[in-house]
Amino acid sequence: MREQMLAAVAASPGLDALDVVRVDALGKQGRITQLLKTLGAMSPDQRQVEGPRIQGLREAVAAAIAARKDALEAAALNARLATETLDMTLPVDAAPAGTIHPVSQVMDELSEIFADLGFAVATGPEMETDWHNFSALNIPDTHPARAMHDTFYLQQGVDAKAAGTADERTTVSLLRTHTSPVQIRTMLANKPPIRIIAPGRTYRSDSDATHTPMFHQVEGLVIDRGITLGHLKWTLETFLKAFFERDDIVLRLRPSYFPFTEPSAEVDVGYTWTKGKRVIGGDPDKMRGDGPNGGWMEVLGSGMVHPKVIAACGLDPAEWQGFAFGCGIDRLAMLKYGIDDLRAFFDGDIRWLKHYGFSA
Ligand code: PHE
Repeated sequence: MREQMLAAVAASPGLDALDVVRVDALGKQGRITQLLKTLGAMSPDQRQVEGPRIQGLREAVAAAIAARKDALEAAALNARLATETLDMTLPVDAAPAGTIHPVSQVMDELSEIFADLGFAVATGPEMETDWHNFSALNIPDTHPARAMHDTFYLQQGVDAKAAGTADERTTVSLLRTHTSPVQIRTMLANKPPIRIIAPGRTYRSDSDATHTPMFHQVEGLVIDRGITLGHLKWTLETFLKAFFERDDIVLRLRPSYFPFTEPSAEVDVGYTWTKGKRVIGGDPDKMRGDGPNGGWMEVLGSGMVHPKVIAACGLDPAEWQGFAFGCGIDRLAMLKYGIDDLRAFFDGDIRWLKHYGFSA
């Protein structure tokens, strides 16, 4: 019986067949179970011989069944794994990834370009005092430029003025209208020589296709001995060539007026039309006279830092000179990436970002 049962176990082709063999041998009515039941009717002598024999048989068959069960289960698992393999070479849709906003992208580019020229990045608060935003920049209370800036005033400043507790230098009373107050903060906190840029958000109550109430500027400031307009022009030229990634960038400096620089210049870059697209740079002859082949775009305001501004920051203007410039970052991004509506920058529309290739 032993040989026959072990052979049946070994020959079971699957788990179901093996179970049939198990029930036949070890089940309630199984043949070995029946044999065990016969022990009760035996004489003690006979039982002493037959007991260990039948128990041995039961253990041998049970062990064989367990071993066969393990083998069949392993085989079944291997078979399942073989049919469930994944094709790792199948292409999959990329998970949607975040993207760098064009304005952030341009700020990073500016920081890198100016880092190469030895400029550090400075920052200042977006909520400013009258003094940092205006007075220290030679824009006194009565100056028309204050009205021109379309300033957003803060209630806390208005209240302080009404209560007579306002202090021009310390009462935070407006949203900065330009990044120029960072010039003041930098000169107050650092000894010259100073070379910084200050990119950041600025605010004016203004809104149309080319103006948003919040916009971005980058301020530049150099203070040292013997700084001239030549240094300013070289710096701007080097910066704009690096930014637009071409050597044929042409600058035009137009005399202008800012209270905090003297002399002051507004800077235009020349553009040319190439295959119906406006391209910054190109043949200067085509830019002449804002003709049909090209023209000029204003990109920044600049000048030599006014001696009064240097003095307001506790420095001696006889010893220290410098230049400063302020440039609209959004405008730069529009020109570089061919974007025509400023407001789309701040709508947060992912389709728009994708269209301009800023999305992964
Ligand atoms: N702050 C000026 C503006 O916002 C720009 C500027 C900065 C001009 C520095 C000269 C020097 O228009």
